[in-house]
Amino acid sequence: MAEFEIVDRDGWARLGRLRTPHGTLETPALLPVVHPDPARQAIAPREIRARYGLGALITSSYITYRSPPLRDRAEREGIHGLLDFDGPVMTDSGAFQQHAYGHVEVSPLEILTFQDRIGTDIATVLDIFVEPDAPHAMAAEGVEETRRRAEEARAVRGGLLAVPVQGGGFADLRQRSSEIASELGDILAVGGVVPLFEQYRYLELVTVLAAARPHLGPAGVVHLFGTGHPMTFALGALFGVDLYDSSAYYKFARRGRLLFPEGTVALDTIREEICRCESCRRLPLSELSRAPPPAREVALAEHNLRISSEEMGRVRQAIREGTLWELAERRASAHPALAAALRTAKRHPEWFLAVEPESRRAYRETGFESFARPAAERFRARLRRSGRAPATGPTLPRLPLVPEFLERIPPSTADGAPIAWSCPTPFGLVPLELTELYPVGPALTESDYSEERPASVSPRSIGERAAEATGLPGAADAGRIPVWTARQIGTALAWRYGPEIGSRLDPGGWIGERSRRTGRLRTILTGSIPLFQIGNDGIPRPTFAAAERLHRALPSPHERVVVAGEAVEFVRAGRSLFSRFVRDADPELAPGASALLVGPDDELLAVGRLLLAPREMGAMRRGVAAVVSAHRRAPVPERSEDASDDL
Ligand code: GUN
Ligand code: ZN
Repeated sequence: MAEFEIVDRDGWARLGRLRTPHGTLETPALLPVVHPDPARQAIAPREIRARYGLGALITSSYITYRSPPLRDRAEREGIHGLLDFDGPVMTDSGAFQQHAYGHVEVSPLEILTFQDRIGTDIATVLDIFVEPDAPHAMAAEGVEETRRRAEEARAVRGGLLAVPVQGGGFADLRQRSSEIASELGDILAVGGVVPLFEQYRYLELVTVLAAARPHLGPAGVVHLFGTGHPMTFALGALFGVDLYDSSAYYKFARRGRLLFPEGTVALDTIREEICRCESCRRLPLSELSRAPPPAREVALAEHNLRISSEEMGRVRQAIREGTLWELAERRASAHPALAAALRTAKRHPEWFLAVEPESRRAYRETGFESFARPAAERFRARLRRSGRAPATGPTLPRLPLVPEFLERIPPSTADGAPIAWSCPTPFGLVPLELTELYPVGPALTESDYSEERPASVSPRSIGERAAEATGLPGAADAGRIPVWTARQIGTALAWRYGPEIGSRLDPGGWIGERSRRTGRLRTILTGSIPLFQIGNDGIPRPTFAAAERLHRALPSPHERVVVAGEAVEFVRAGRSLFSRFVRDADPELAPGASALLVGPDDELLAVGRLLLAPREMGAMRRGVAAVVSAHRRAPVPERSEDASDDL
């Protein structure tokens, strides 16, 4: 099994570390395709790493094998000697030549053992390249033949093995092929998609990825064959592509094309210096079309590789920041086919909810469709489940949920009936008291800056609007604040844990403490016992005392991560829970959620903040599954003002 560790995540994307015999690879990573013949390399492998920051390569074992001089050198000096490169090298098997020329002249076992012999870091099974338009029977036969070859390969290959996923355009076959690859392979390489890239059939690409992705084992490293264009990297990452291989940088260069994450530009149309990367500074673009073809091709390949490498860096950065959807949306405007593909992905939040993080630091609109991200759907689904979805009732603009506003808004009518205030937001109508929750609270939307928004949402103007809507006094009344606080607490807990939770946790009632600095609700207590801390995402996070109550109120497996017996003592004492010690996890939990960490007999050990999705826990052999935030032997937490602001 691959030595692969997840460090951070967003969508299906993982920021990961893959160990190979020639060093560790940080994923998502771009593996440029290099020709095994040094005389035919546009850019030497050593330079690719030194000047472009791309630490791993892919080359063709088939081309190497078929050329006696290359083969001799590779057999003598290894593939790293032939390439003069000592970083991780992946070798492909010749299936692409089968696609291009209709046949290959080597047996699957021969090319596999050859890859092994020349010391490749990642060997690839010689698969059957199933064309996207192949009929079902033919595609099914391709999947089965690929399976036979993968089984044969696994029996002889001890090192990392890439097993291709085929199946053409058929979801059932992509699923079967994904399951086979996950069983036999370390690298799960989605193949047969090059024609989709070449013909901008991104919509079909997305349906292939959606069919395959949930069935690719979490511990496997996902490779996508042929993703060359940088405008597609963010979309691929959303579907959890860890490795990309690209020959696009020189293929486009040969056709006089410049790659940008925003799209493709033909060199012969360029009159301005639209890029000042190192190679475009050396050979200005406005002069490049007059350069001799070999120099021009190299310059374009250099530009293309640099831009591709930078975009891969942006994808990794976006995963760290939780802004991958934003990046994918911005890139989707590069090509209408890409926009259509991303829109289709958003029509299927269920494709993502198993791995969708509970919250992120920011939520930034790039256009109207930004509000169809899976995070928005999760919010609405929880709102429906809570039984607090607003139907009728007066509305107010989004406002800070702090005393100087809340004291102006009557929570109930003159005869004591609660008034269901809500706010129209781009996510739909949201109960006033939930408007600071992720994604509604952190969302930065165009309407916040548009002309329709009242220039100042002031306590006074809100009071006037509230009075107008209800006929009740709009003047400040401090007596309303505790009512609002109680309602904020009850609704937030119902949203997070379900409609009945409030009475099951504490029939006696709640106390809310607000930050003295910001006025925002920060701590939920019962008596003097702190039960929940509320961070900037608005989500209540249980203390150990609350976890004990949740544990009693919610039957197993709800909200639980089950810790293996051997790790129980460590977790009880507050140490991080490693993935390999997870026995089970509630599939409803999301990465980033606070969960109950329990022993095999359901004894509550600790509260943990999840770094992995439930499906990944236990399946990943390396890495942390949850960081403990409170545990059984913890001292009673100090209640210092604003201490929770940094949560
Ligand atoms: N290169 C591009 N597509 C493919 C594929 O489907 N299989 C293999 N092995 N290599 C490829
Ligand atoms: Zn450039």
